[in-house]
Amino acid sequence: MKLTIIGTGYVGLVTGACFAEVGHQVICVDNDAAKVKLLQEGGIPIYEPGLEEVLKRNVSAGRLHFTSSTAEGVEKSDVIFIAVPTPPQADGSVDLSFIEKVAREISGAMNGYKIVVDKSTVPVRTGEKVSETIKRYCKARVDFDVVSNPEFLREGFAVSDLMKPDRVVIGVRSQRPVQAMREVYEPFGAPIIFTDISSAELIKHASNSFLALKISYINAVSVICDATGANVQEVANGMGMDARIGRRFLDASLGFGGSCFPKDLSAFINIAGQLGYDFGLLKEVQRINAEQMNRFIKKIVDTLWVLKDKKIGVLGLAFKQNTDDVRMSPAIELCQRLQKEGAVLRVHDPRAMDKARALLKDATFVEDMNEVAEGCDALVIATEWEEFKKLDLERVRKALSHPIMFDGRNLFDPAEMQRLGFLYKSIGRAEVGGQ
Ligand code: UGA
Repeated sequence: MKLTIIGTGYVGLVTGACFAEVGHQVICVDNDAAKVKLLQEGGIPIYEPGLEEVLKRNVSAGRLHFTSSTAEGVEKSDVIFIAVPTPPQADGSVDLSFIEKVAREISGAMNGYKIVVDKSTVPVRTGEKVSETIKRYCKARVDFDVVSNPEFLREGFAVSDLMKPDRVVIGVRSQRPVQAMREVYEPFGAPIIFTDISSAELIKHASNSFLALKISYINAVSVICDATGANVQEVANGMGMDARIGRRFLDASLGFGGSCFPKDLSAFINIAGQLGYDFGLLKEVQRINAEQMNRFIKKIVDTLWVLKDKKIGVLGLAFKQNTDDVRMSPAIELCQRLQKEGAVLRVHDPRAMDKARALLKDATFVEDMNEVAEGCDALVIATEWEEFKKLDLERVRKALSHPIMFDGRNLFDPAEMQRLGFLYKSIGRAEVGGQ
């Protein structure tokens, strides 16, 4: 198939690369000429495990091209995917102006029947608006279909999520685009479900909100665990063995973040409100998430008392492991709040330090994770990077002026931390150590 992807952000770039990987001819379009040049020269603007190899392989095989011309992408392809940002606005709604602009650009370049696929995360009924827009602005009066095809990839695991999806969701208004969409996705070997456009749009918002709800649920349970001495990981393991519940996304933490869950929750609440439904359940999910961060900071303050001039080491700046993305990162929020209290920070992240520098101006960025604790009053774990589990704990204990660790991601075993002589406070598990 000849495919064009408009927008080379996380979703667009990985989608384009993976479409080429299964044999399609792909053009990736971006209006940022510098980014297009970087990609044409074999560079890569984001860190995503495995992506560089896939990009290189398909560029050299001649299946993947980059351009800043939307017209070129539209003219040369049968199926055009829109993967541009849909950023949040102050009232929780979504800014759809990039989608609208791209829809107009596509309509101006159409030279025959095209399938226009919305891949960006959008509120229900956006497909209808895209369709109206193309109809209004398309001077060539050619036929087209608008399709909704939400993306379920996780940052940090994007290539494998895309190559081996649990399911592919395709919302259509007529039968005409069905066969072509099937051909696009058949090589991935996943179940493909066809729905109407509104249902496909809702599947995305409802899925992300449900996953966020699952995290807030276990975080609420972690508060009860804290109050009773129960262990939230054992509770999650026990719950997760029920196939109806499942263990994934039941890791208690200092809260979820990133460019998707917080934004999609707000957008879903907002569109529900516009449609006359007060989605109180999801407002509670947001409240629990904010409270979880407050509670974690309170643990730190209750232990260290005055934070002014205290030296604190923080491991983790990205919003989760395996990414350099710091957008809406709980780790960054934590650092900023500690700094506001007057704490002096030494920070480290395996990938996100460059992007974090602008957000944490006064912090000291440390290259080696084992050196972060040097001279600190306490060490905080803020992101669930696997490699933090390999921290040299003996060395860290000696480096700290007091062996205190706050673990916002439950990476270590409390019994082991106690044996090593730490005062160790985590999430939803009894604290150990201390005098
Ligand atoms: C999320 C969804 O998981 C994807 O399916 C979706 O495609 C994507 O949003 C999107 O809409 O584009 P992502 O934001 O990349 O993916 O990251 P997740 O792995 O879902 O993690 C989100 C946040 O939840 C992170 O801050 C993570 O640390 C936190 N989390 C996750 C927990 O606190 N506990 C868990 O058990 C799982």
